[in-house]
Amino acid sequence: PKSYNITLLPGDGIGPEVISVAKNVLNLAGSLEGIEFKFKEMPMGGAALDLTGVPLPEETLTTAQQSDAVLLGAIGGYKWDKNEKHLKPETGLLQLREGLKVFANLRPAYVLPQLVDASTWKKEVAEGVDLMVVRELTGGIYFGKPRRFGTNENGEEIGFNTEVSAAYDFDTIVTNNIFGDILLDEASMITGSIGMLPSASLGESGPGLFEPIHDSAPDISNNNFEPGTLSEQPLYPNWDRGKDKANPLATILSAAMLLKYGLSELKAAERIELAVLDTLNKGFRTGDIYSVGNKLVGCKEMGEEVLKSVDTKTHAS
Ligand code: NAD
Ligand code: IPM
Ligand code: MN
Repeated sequence: PKSYNITLLPGDGIGPEVISVAKNVLNLAGSLEGIEFKFKEMPMGGAALDLTGVPLPEETLTTAQQSDAVLLGAIGGYKWDKNEKHLKPETGLLQLREGLKVFANLRPAYVLPQLVDASTWKKEVAEGVDLMVVRELTGGIYFGKPRRFGTNENGEEIGFNTEVSAAYDFDTIVTNNIFGDILLDEASMITGSIGMLPSASLGESGPGLFEPIHDSAPDISNNNFEPGTLSEQPLYPNWDRGKDKANPLATILSAAMLLKYGLSELKAAERIELAVLDTLNKGFRTGDIYSVGNKLVGCKEMGEEVLKSVDTKTHAS
């Protein structure tokens, strides 16, 4: 069978929970298409800081660079928020994006008919929203050095920088790094929840990086747990699986983007997309997309339902 090496970077907060679910979905959709995955899980973000003292260990970057695609959960948490900049989990993510040279970040945002009630917009306005934001990912103010220094009225040093203008139309928005971040956080409210939106980051060659657009959601994860691992030889045996409240669909859909944009495995990607729609059609909802009349489930159960749909629905068709 065809075989691919996938680097898994669970990270922090809800990251390990959603990666664990997405890994199973990827495995099943692949196996139905004769594809085998070899997963290697590596520490990244706060988990890596605790383990090695840096947010992106050399070995994690090397493993990612040498794999066929990288699937990342989320990084960051209160625990490391006061760290110096070079020791913040987020710095590790920026270093990873830079190290993989994935300058183009695709962030689709569309309103699914099944979730139109979860939108902050009126049904008539939200219906049919279908956007693709193309976000420049390895430049801009994220990587910028202040161009000019001055002092404010309190005598404190302040920096200035220029921003690049955004060109856009109704279907596709091409934007710089920081506006891409802000725009999609906002668009997520139109689509129902940030827990639904995947992304793909691509360069000219080499492995792509696939991650949900949300962060580590410390408010719905267990902040005191030991960072975990999904590998058979646990790096952190005392890992607590969090609170089981996270919506894994953004990561599952990121796995579909990994198949589609990263590996050109369109059939396996479609299996996942169809299974997500089928699961929503059956009424399964995590808390962030719940509306009356549906079935409230946790992260794990949502994952199990998607697995059932990958198996039955897309297998039969
Ligand atoms: P977040 O995306 O983690 O959470 C925003 C809100 O959406 C929270 O209420 C969260 O519970 C909810 N949410 C997110 N993903 C979800 C999912 N899959 N299922 C259900 N609900 C979900 O953003 P945040 O709270 O601003 O950031 C969390 C951490 O990430 C911070 O502690 C920080 O360390 C790091 N961080 C975030 C940003 C950012 O852009 N927001 C930037 C730098 C660092
Ligand atoms: C995202 C995240 C990151 C970003 C943070 C964690 C650095 O919010 O992928 O949207 O702003 O790029
Ligand atoms: Mn963001």
